Amino acid sequence: MDLGLRGKKAIVTGATKGIGRAIVELLAQEGADIGLCARTEEEVAAAVREISGRGVHVVGEAVNVRDGEAYKAWLERTVAALGGCDIFIPNVSAGGGMDSEKNWVKAFEVDVLHTVRGCETLMPHLEKGGAGSIVIIASTNAVETFGGPMAYNAMKAALITYSKQLSQFVGKKGVRVNAVSPGPIYFEGGAWEMIKGTMPKMYEWAMKQFPGGKMGAPEEVARVVAFIASPAGSLVTGANVVADNGFTKRVQF
Ligand SMILES: NC(=O)c1ccc[n+]([C@@H]2O[C@H](COP(=O)([O-])OP(=O)(O)OC[C@H]3O[C@@H](n4cnc5c(N)ncnc54)[C@H](OP(=O)(O)O)[C@@H]3O)[C@@H](O)[C@H]2O)c1
Repeated sequence: MDLGLRGKKAIVTGATKGIGRAIVELLAQEGADIGLCARTEEEVAAAVREISGRGVHVVGEAVNVRDGEAYKAWLERTVAALGGCDIFIPNVSAGGGMDSEKNWVKAFEVDVLHTVRGCETLMPHLEKGGAGSIVIIASTNAVETFGGPMAYNAMKAALITYSKQLSQFVGKKGVRVNAVSPGPIYFEGGAWEMIKGTMPKMYEWAMKQFPGGKMGAPEEVARVVAFIASPAGSLVTGANVVADNGFTKRVQF
């Protein structure tokens, strides 16, 4: 199946590692030009260099998405450098933790505001091509109780609600908006590798939740995201696509 991604221009936040990195690798492999960011300059430079090897135009900068002005300026520079934006994937998260009110503010600014600011800044550009697509990276933690009353879980729920309502609002302009909710995803340097080492009981519990006994990999999430982001996913908007290898137990309607 041709996803129709050749020549599309995609902006992905937090794309030097993990799920974001797998997404940009796959989009580039499918022929899309890439704009990416993360906070660590050397890792951004390495990602730009390595992904450029796939023969597409790749630009990237070290930006903290929590800094609203710097982040919005980076988005505009990236659109100018790529010559437009067809696909936006806000992927950065502040991660979990239950410690303090400070954590709630950070989670709100990073998870929610960076997504909303990105959608608002890029919307005029996404509308221009007539087939814009936004895929917000959420989490199964929003749809089933996990870990405790974490800001992370609540912010991911906010993102799913925002995604649905934005999809209704911008559909008439030809822009699709979806959320993808991964379950636990294992990769070197990721949260689940850390959990395996420091909280083995929690890791063992998680492994028992997968009917097939296997935790997901970033590349598996990337394939779901790429399809939904692409013109091939034209029928899908306002959805929250759970990609969790059976980790969650609810019935989905
Ligand atoms: N891993 C899982 O099991 C899992 C499960 C469900 C959902 N998710 C969601 O999937 C997304 C990606 O998760 P992941 O596990 O792949 O993350 P990760 O390994 O922690 O990677 C995060 C990426 O974002 C960058 N980043 C972090 N904070 C940033 C900031 N404030 N500004 C700019 N860049 C920033 C990181 O680079 P720097 O550190 O250099 O900035 C890195 O490139 C998140 O939204 C997460 O909630 C993950």
